[in-house]
Amino acid sequence: MKALPGLFANNRKWAAQVQAADPGFFARLTTQQAPEYLWIGCADSRVPANEIVGLLPGELFVHRNVANLVIHTDLNCLSVLQYAVDLLRIRHVIVCGHYGCGGVKAAMEPQPHGLVDNWLRHVRDIQQRHREALAAIPDEAERVRRLCELNVREQVLNVGNTTIIQDAWERGQGVAIHGWIYDVADGLLRDLDVCVTSGAELAALQP
Ligand code: CO
Repeated sequence: MKALPGLFANNRKWAAQVQAADPGFFARLTTQQAPEYLWIGCADSRVPANEIVGLLPGELFVHRNVANLVIHTDLNCLSVLQYAVDLLRIRHVIVCGHYGCGGVKAAMEPQPHGLVDNWLRHVRDIQQRHREALAAIPDEAERVRRLCELNVREQVLNVGNTTIIQDAWERGQGVAIHGWIYDVADGLLRDLDVCVTSGAELAALQP
C-alpha cells in the first residue's frame, strides 16, 4: 500500500525502453538541460504537457497550476519563469489552457468551493471584465469554452507584463509568448493567435 508497486514497475519498464532506444539518453541529461520551451498549463490530469507536444525529458520546462494562471505576485510561477528565461534562455513561453477546465467552470458557479475560490477569483475577475460578451452566448457550455479562451489570453498578457519578460525584451533577448488551448475531447491543440514577441505587440493586445 505504501510502496505503490505498479508505478515502480511502470517506471522500470519506461526507463528500460528509453535506454534501449537511445543508450546515452539519461547520461546526457545528467550534464545539462537545454529546453527551448516553457509550458504554463493547467494541473488537470488530462493535459500532460510533454505527451501532448511529443517532447522528451529535457525538452520542455513545465509549470502547472489550477486553471493555468499567471498571477503577478505568485512567486512559484514567477520563479519558474525567471529560471526559464534568465538561466535556461528558453525561446518560447506557451500558456496552454484547455476546454472543459474544472477551475474555469467552478469560477463561473455561484456556490462556494472553499479555499480554491480565492485562487479562482482571478478567473472570475476576467469573467466580469467580459460579462457582456459572455452573456451574449446563449449556450452555457459554449460560455465556459469562451472563458477558457479569454483566460489564456489574459495569462499571455500577464506573462508579458512581468519584469522578467520586460527585462528580457529590453536587453534584446528574444522570447515569444504563445496562447494555446487544448481540447480534451479530441487531443488537439488550437493556437489562439495571441502570440507576443515585444512590448509593442503586447501593448496592441491590451485594452
Ligand atoms: Co483545467
